[in-house]
Amino acid sequence: MQNSAQPIGVFDSGLGGLTVFGELTRTLPQERFIYLGDMARTPYGSKSRETIIRYSRECSAFLLEQGVKIIVVACNTASSLALEALQAELPCPVIGTVEQAAKCALQATRSKRIGVIGTEATISSGVYQARLQQLEAGVSVFSQPCPLFVPLVEQGMVSGEIVEKVVELYLRELRSKEIDTLILGCTHYPVLAPVLQDFLGEKVCIVECSKAIASEVREMLGAESGNETRSEAESKFYVTDSLSRFRTLAPIFLRQTRTEFQAEKIELTE
Ligand code: DGL
Repeated sequence: MQNSAQPIGVFDSGLGGLTVFGELTRTLPQERFIYLGDMARTPYGSKSRETIIRYSRECSAFLLEQGVKIIVVACNTASSLALEALQAELPCPVIGTVEQAAKCALQATRSKRIGVIGTEATISSGVYQARLQQLEAGVSVFSQPCPLFVPLVEQGMVSGEIVEKVVELYLRELRSKEIDTLILGCTHYPVLAPVLQDFLGEKVCIVECSKAIASEVREMLGAESGNETRSEAESKFYVTDSLSRFRTLAPIFLRQTRTEFQAEKIELTE
């Protein structure tokens, strides 16, 4: 059974899941968190379904070994392709990104014309399209994979001429569809939100899943959460590649100025 002393586990293929992690720690300051960024194997978004499921199982197994009470899959690619398998197999609740982002977008849209951007694996899975149309039959969904966004932001490139050109390349056609809402179907993308907003114009509402996921976890924990504030001091970060790159780039994704992290490099095993 869950208890308040157990940490909450969060994983992503790299640094993008820190956008969700940041929101979780702000919403639930009394909880302890463990973050796993599988940086050595980023991007997941260009890998096959089998590989994404295998990597997601390995990340989850590592988090379970750390005694987590809930796993947040802070990766749309893993959520789109592996969530069902994880929910069926794991002994703790597993929360993904797609459901929350889809619901937020449906609340935001007036015209019922919604754009979705994500990795190649997420977009070709069709999960967003299917879920949006299940929740609201009349909605039109326009999807676009943006495979260069993840490598760009994992290099810390979140603005400037090159980023603007790539944004234009991917979003030009989507802009012509007159969407009024855009789902950032990848947890790496919120750091690009200002450039995306500039390109699409102020009238388009940009939706990311992090706030909704944080509220879902808070609801799930209910009264079980304690009162002490400890998430910053007691949270721990694990990465499967360079710690120095993690330390340099983490503040961008966490959207905070903090520079001290309890971080450790690990290797995942099957
Ligand atoms: N941040 C991830 C997502 O939300 C995955 C990016 C990748 O590894 O391709 O899809």
